[in-house]
Amino acid sequence: MKNELSQILGEASAEIKNQDADLEQIRIKYLGKKGKLTDILKKLGTLPAEERPVIGAFANEIKTKIEELIAKKQKELAGLNIEKKLAEEKIDITLPAKQKETGKRHPISQIMLSLEEIFIGMGFNIVKGPEIEYAYYNFDALNSPKNHPARDIQDTFYIRKDEKEIREDDILLRCHTSSVQIRFMEKNKPPIKIVAPGRTFRVDLDSTHTPVFHQFEGLVVDKNITLVDLKDTLEAVFRGLFGEDAEIRLRPHYFPFTEPSAEVDAKCFVCGGNNENCPTCRGEGWLEMLGAGMVHPKVLAGCGIDPTVYTGFAFGMGLERLAMVKFGIDDIRNLFENNMRFLRQF
Ligand code: PHE
Repeated sequence: MKNELSQILGEASAEIKNQDADLEQIRIKYLGKKGKLTDILKKLGTLPAEERPVIGAFANEIKTKIEELIAKKQKELAGLNIEKKLAEEKIDITLPAKQKETGKRHPISQIMLSLEEIFIGMGFNIVKGPEIEYAYYNFDALNSPKNHPARDIQDTFYIRKDEKEIREDDILLRCHTSSVQIRFMEKNKPPIKIVAPGRTFRVDLDSTHTPVFHQFEGLVVDKNITLVDLKDTLEAVFRGLFGEDAEIRLRPHYFPFTEPSAEVDAKCFVCGGNNENCPTCRGEGWLEMLGAGMVHPKVLAGCGIDPTVYTGFAFGMGLERLAMVKFGIDDIRNLFENNMRFLRQF
């Protein structure tokens, strides 16, 4: 039996030596409940009484030895693992750091936010209206007759249109933000001082028009509001956007919903009106920027506001146009193509 025990020690130590993982299995194989060593100890009872303590003590010695061998190997393996890890995870501190790209606002959003800030500073409220609109709010309530050319399907996108007649409940994509004026005046009475930024839609596509674009509407209604207030407000806005030297002028124009109406030009930001060959204003000295006017009495009355007591001014500007002038963009379509090389410049 002593020989058997020595043999077990020999076997176990050889196995432990060659093992490079799972030492637990070896422990179970030799020292477990059904292990080889345990099997032998079970036979201890068959030995003559005087041999039992000797063999028992020897068996214990073997057991301790195997345990020690396992523990030693375990330490060895742990050390190897750390070395292996260190070798594998070598950090190259000379590698350039990963660059984090910082996002930026789209030029249109930049203009929109600047305008919102300027108008909030002047005490305006920002309101929003639906992009899908009834023809009533887009045209009729704005004093645009049923035969107005903008109502044609060549100009306006319709979601639902009566085939036989032009109706107030035709549904369309709003072609300007002026519809928000009506929605607001239906629910709120003067004093009114709002701006309405948002997306607008027209059937149009060339270097200065896209089917989707953005407008920024303004509306002020109160007692004693005059054209002077309109000009003063817009001048303040353009100075806020383009600097203290900005200058504007009003040119007579026609809109069904304002009377009198004007187109507003800004002194050319590039040449200041001093270069006959200026590529931006083509030597005109002025850049056409937006439409404006005094709210038509019919529009006020239609919303339940007495035009003999109240007057108001309104304006609507295209944000793409502003962005193009401010950032020197020559083709409006660039603003919608999501070309990173283009957008990164602003
Ligand atoms: N709605 C007009 C347009 O889209 C702009 C405008 C707004 C004109 C308000 C006058 C008053 O061209």
